[in-house]
Amino acid sequence: MSKLIEWNDALSVGIQEIDEQHKVLVDLLNELHDAIRQHHGREASVEILGRLVDYTRIHFAVEESLMRILGYPEYETHKGHHEDLISQVNTLQQRMREGEAITFELLHFLRNWLTHHIMEGDQRYVSHFLSRGVQKTWEKKSWFGRLWS
Ligand SMILES: [Fe+2]
Ligand SMILES: [Fe+2]
Repeated sequence: MSKLIEWNDALSVGIQEIDEQHKVLVDLLNELHDAIRQHHGREASVEILGRLVDYTRIHFAVEESLMRILGYPEYETHKGHHEDLISQVNTLQQRMREGEAITFELLHFLRNWLTHHIMEGDQRYVSHFLSRGVQKTWEKKSWFGRLWS
């Protein structure tokens, strides 16, 4: 079965740690898509949406910490963007809990929600993060490697 979102280079920000977290979000959206196509029922969809919201909060918190630690000048703007995204998905979650069905239309909204976050928002901090010494891949990650070598 085709996926709602296929991971591709356009979604990569070029920093492995961030990409791995975005891939978790992509997987959760695909899981939600499958549950709807296979008619697993509203309860199952609400449960997956709940995990998506929880992981999104964690992911945003990580990004916001990194932005603060690394002195990212657009921190406030980006944080505001995260807050909007969270409130959109919270509204959605509330509607589902009240009995509204999760539709394909809604899935497309979520797909745009996620890709917009990555491609419009996150791509903007990458050059700043790299200039402050963030490593692109785990293999090159200094303290992690040193710890066990
Ligand atoms: Fe992100
Ligand atoms: Fe972000």
